[in-house]
Amino acid sequence: MKKILITGVAGFIGFHAAKYELENGNYVIGVDNLDNYYDVRIKKDRLDILKKQKKFLFIKDDLKNKNFYKKLKKHIRNIESVLHMAGQAGVRYSIYNPETYVINNILAYVKLLEFFKFSKKLKTIFYASSSSVYGESGEKKMSNFNVNRPISIYSASKISMELISNVYSKLYNMNLIGLRFFTVYGPWGRPDMSYFKFLITNKKNKPIEIYNFGKHQRSFTYIDDLILNLFKIIKYYRKKKTRGVSCVFNLGNEKTIKLMEFLNTLENVTNIKFKKKFVRKQMGDVQKTGANLKIENKKFNFRFNHSLRNGLEKFYKWFTEYKYNLK
Ligand SMILES: NC(=O)c1ccc[n+]([C@@H]2O[C@H](COP(=O)([O-])OP(=O)(O)OC[C@H]3O[C@@H](n4cnc5c(N)ncnc54)[C@H](O)[C@@H]3O)[C@@H](O)[C@H]2O)c1
Repeated sequence: MKKILITGVAGFIGFHAAKYELENGNYVIGVDNLDNYYDVRIKKDRLDILKKQKKFLFIKDDLKNKNFYKKLKKHIRNIESVLHMAGQAGVRYSIYNPETYVINNILAYVKLLEFFKFSKKLKTIFYASSSSVYGESGEKKMSNFNVNRPISIYSASKISMELISNVYSKLYNMNLIGLRFFTVYGPWGRPDMSYFKFLITNKKNKPIEIYNFGKHQRSFTYIDDLILNLFKIIKYYRKKKTRGVSCVFNLGNEKTIKLMEFLNTLENVTNIKFKKKFVRKQMGDVQKTGANLKIENKKFNFRFNHSLRNGLEKFYKWFTEYKYNLK
């Protein structure tokens, strides 16, 4: 029996990936420590949806705990791939809480690699990197661009994961595929991200803060498009017999959108006129991210089916129906 282990399964991307796998009839073992970086209720609610599926096994634990690997040991012969989505997200948070990025992104990843390094069954670990690795390098870069100028600990932790992958791949003949995600949004999203935060702030009748005076540009990527393309990569490597591959791919919408255009669309979709406060650029934030998919389109034939409007409509529908007044 082939199984996938999804770490960070109660998180935004891990949850959607698990849902996709289960809907396709596959087994999923999920792990998450349910940390309180943002409102834990949304994580529990995501899990409640997954737990309805017979082929889903949830382990509440931390990737840094020895005990977790004791529990996982009895499954190791069945785990064929790992989707490693657990970690500490957020650029701004990393400026004031650098240690958690070293611990939950770098150290936790090394523990995971140590556990799997001699597994005969495991074919590939797919792990979350980030578009932030490009720093302020300017125009859209291909995924073979040499990233060595991070401007936040978050970004440095992701580059470290990529470097560590090169080491383990070489030493233990492992397939380690990094996924540089670009600003992902959609239903069940992260309440700390701007589009979500804007709505929560507005509910409190407060002005939303627009960083960098609205000059940011991002490759906003709708969650279903991300999942569709992510599984194109996973399926590709499931079929491959090669071992010892360490590489990274860009995974984001090629269309770069200005923050003010994003905001206008959000206002149109929600029929809300936000009270706005324009503030300066925050430490660690890059001005622009843009996905260059030259390599990826050739290899995986990526598709992005959602326009920004379409994606935000789906997000807002979910938001208005969601039961909690999130913090
Ligand atoms: N969402 C985006 O736009 C985006 C963009 C670029 C990169 N990423 C990266 O993708 C990954 C997933 O992002 P997300 O948006 O789903 O974040 P998320 O915070 O919603 O999910 C991460 C999950 O990992 C869990 N976790 C953290 N440390 C853990 C540990 N040591 N052991 C077990 N569980 C742990 C958390 O409880 C959380 O549920 C992260 O690594 C993030 O940095 C996300």
